[in-house]
Amino acid sequence: MAGSDRHSRSQDDLHRNPRDLSHSAVAEASPTLRSLAAERGLLVGAAVNVSALDRDTEYGEVLARELSLVVAENAMKFRYLQPQRNRFDFAVSDRLMAFAADRHLQVRGHTLVWHRALPAWLEDGDWTRAEAMDILKRHIETVVGRYRNGIIVWDVANEAIAADGTLRDSFWLRHIGPEYVEMAFRWAHAADPEARLFYNDYGGEELGRKSDAIYALVRSLRARGVPIHGVGLQMHVRVDAPPDATKVAANMRRLADLGLEVQITEMDVRLPQPAAAKDYEQQGEVYRRMLRTCLQESGCSAFVTWGLSDRYSWVPGHFAGWGEALLFDERYRAKPAYYELSNELSDLPK
Ligand code: G3I
Repeated sequence: MAGSDRHSRSQDDLHRNPRDLSHSAVAEASPTLRSLAAERGLLVGAAVNVSALDRDTEYGEVLARELSLVVAENAMKFRYLQPQRNRFDFAVSDRLMAFAADRHLQVRGHTLVWHRALPAWLEDGDWTRAEAMDILKRHIETVVGRYRNGIIVWDVANEAIAADGTLRDSFWLRHIGPEYVEMAFRWAHAADPEARLFYNDYGGEELGRKSDAIYALVRSLRARGVPIHGVGLQMHVRVDAPPDATKVAANMRRLADLGLEVQITEMDVRLPQPAAAKDYEQQGEVYRRMLRTCLQESGCSAFVTWGLSDRYSWVPGHFAGWGEALLFDERYRAKPAYYELSNELSDLPK
């Protein structure tokens, strides 16, 4: 984990007080989140908007400088990869894979079986159970097989559990039945035995009804020998309602006790608009507490935000009156949250 040479640098050089800086350009010589996290044995990543990557050079530069892991925000979802039956389109996802290979970034795959982002041909079709199983199996075999050895972690099943702890109503549940989750993991494992296979969800970060249901599901999968290796805690949160770090730690620990890895997979901390100075500070503290929790729990292997810069974020389009949820502002200036994470990775006191 923590490398001892971390302490050979002057603490003064490293210490940046987020309160002295609002949004600022990261100095060229500063250690990056990527290098600091590597010293702590942690991957740091973000969801990538591939069309932005195609046209916005600065976006790619900041991504590759600061991060060690990327995940396609949308490009690897079913609707985009198989827009017509048995007609796969890998043009966009291949561009992300090429970028990642070129810049030595690891890739998380997101996502194989989900109730959203399905193509119309699938949702509007009239399928038997056997046909639906065949479609899902072929999709998983084709996608996972294509990126075999290129993707370290797949979110195999995404958001399969509803808020009340039951399996969510979905195309897959209706057509295949509850076994679809187990089947997806088995097919993914057969297509790439090296990939780490995750269950990923939101609202199950702490302890409670939903996280208990996620725990029960993954424990049962493990007990039956289903190849599942980890749980993704998405962590889309409001600055004024952050998760309780003690409960998140307890949840991570019980998952680790099952032999599972944990990753924070989609973190963003949305601010009321317009935001006040104290909101940026609080946002930094929320990010820092969750990073600290991840660093302290041995099973937590990656810290991923759902986007890099407020220039491209799903938040304003989805939550009216909220925004600025990420580490960099619309002009790629680092926000206090960036410095809080940097200081936490450098082990500097608050
Ligand atoms: O690509 C079309 C475009 O052609 C069309 O003109 C436009 C008009 O609405 O829509 C575009 O597609 C949108 C797509 O994002 C790309 O921008 C979809 O409507 C929109 O639904 C889609 O939203 C994404 C959402 O997942 C649903 O797939 C968000 O960008 C993405 O951030 C969000 O990510 C999810 C994770 O996958 C799972 N966890 C929650 C997270 C946030 O909702």
